[in-house]
Amino acid sequence: MARVHNFNAGPAGLPLPALERAQRDLLDFDGTGMSIIEHSHRGKAYEAVHNEAIGLVKDLLSVPDDYHVLFLQGGASQVFATLPMNLLPAGKSADYLVTGGWAEKALEEAQRVGTARAAANTAVGKSFTRVPRPDEITLDPAAAYVHMTTNNTLFGTQWHGLPSVGGVPLIADMSSDFMWKPFDVSKFGMVYAGAQKNIGPSGVVVVVIRKDLVEAGRKDIPIIFRYATHAANNSLYNTAPTFSIYLIRNVLAYTKDIGGLAEIERRNRRKASLLYAAIDENPEFYRGPVEKESRSTMNVVFRLPSEDLEKRFVAEAAKKHMVGLAGHRLTGGIRASLYNAVPYESVETLVSFMKDFVKTA
Ligand SMILES: Cc1ncc(COP(=O)(O)O)c(C=O)c1O
Repeated sequence: MARVHNFNAGPAGLPLPALERAQRDLLDFDGTGMSIIEHSHRGKAYEAVHNEAIGLVKDLLSVPDDYHVLFLQGGASQVFATLPMNLLPAGKSADYLVTGGWAEKALEEAQRVGTARAAANTAVGKSFTRVPRPDEITLDPAAAYVHMTTNNTLFGTQWHGLPSVGGVPLIADMSSDFMWKPFDVSKFGMVYAGAQKNIGPSGVVVVVIRKDLVEAGRKDIPIIFRYATHAANNSLYNTAPTFSIYLIRNVLAYTKDIGGLAEIERRNRRKASLLYAAIDENPEFYRGPVEKESRSTMNVVFRLPSEDLEKRFVAEAAKKHMVGLAGHRLTGGIRASLYNAVPYESVETLVSFMKDFVKTA
């Protein structure tokens, strides 16, 4: 079996042991004579997996007791819309920190539902090269919540500290850096993440939300969109995305086995340092557009001297079994996503290729 070096931005690579476990379970899950995909979401076999997955999120992040962990469908994009439906009552306004394309989409959805404004916006033209400095953020102390995007997948920027929001609930889209390291859940009213980058396949979005926010949520919205519905039903109100949740279970059980999020953070920092050092060593050739203090440990973006060279770079890398390196269609350039499952050896292979490429270009 030849596995490639997978630098995809999401869906992305998953740890091999988690996939092998799925392979073993595929036809006969735990001696039940059927696949986990074929089990009822209301049966004991699946229920145990479901609760284990929720338990692993709680365990790995030390989630306090006053938070729910929910598994929803519709991706992070669904949460862009259901967040204001639930937590932005009439007469209130929400603050959004606009740091990239996904943050813009989140704000746009909130403005369809109620009143929401950009409390900071670091766009320069259509591009973003950093997150805001504290003095660039003007918050409304009466806001229903403050929304941020902790890692900006398209532009390769990441927050390395949290904004001071006083008593206003801080809500974070962590889709592209969820569980890249341990973090203090109690600093947030809610965090959410499409699973398909760091912790599983597509098809499920993880929401960690303070219980009092769920209870205070608006009731005048469809039942299926209320976070309270999913909290009251342990995320089994309707048919759950069972296979996706099963795979999250596998990924997180493996994460725990290798030492939890502290070990994941150590690995991620090592990978990102190696790649950024390779970019900085050749500043005439590789240009990192992102300001250093905002560089992402998850999505490393860089440019080459011309688009033709960028195309050649991607094509030649593919010949060496490195995939997913083309930048987002909106930004162009190169993007290497170094999510939790990307091995250090893949980054070493990329860096060695980069050094050779400079010589032949
Ligand atoms: C930061 C961020 N937010 C939201 C999304 C959208 O997620 P989904 O496709 O699960 O709706 C993405 C997808 O790449 C993302 O990177």
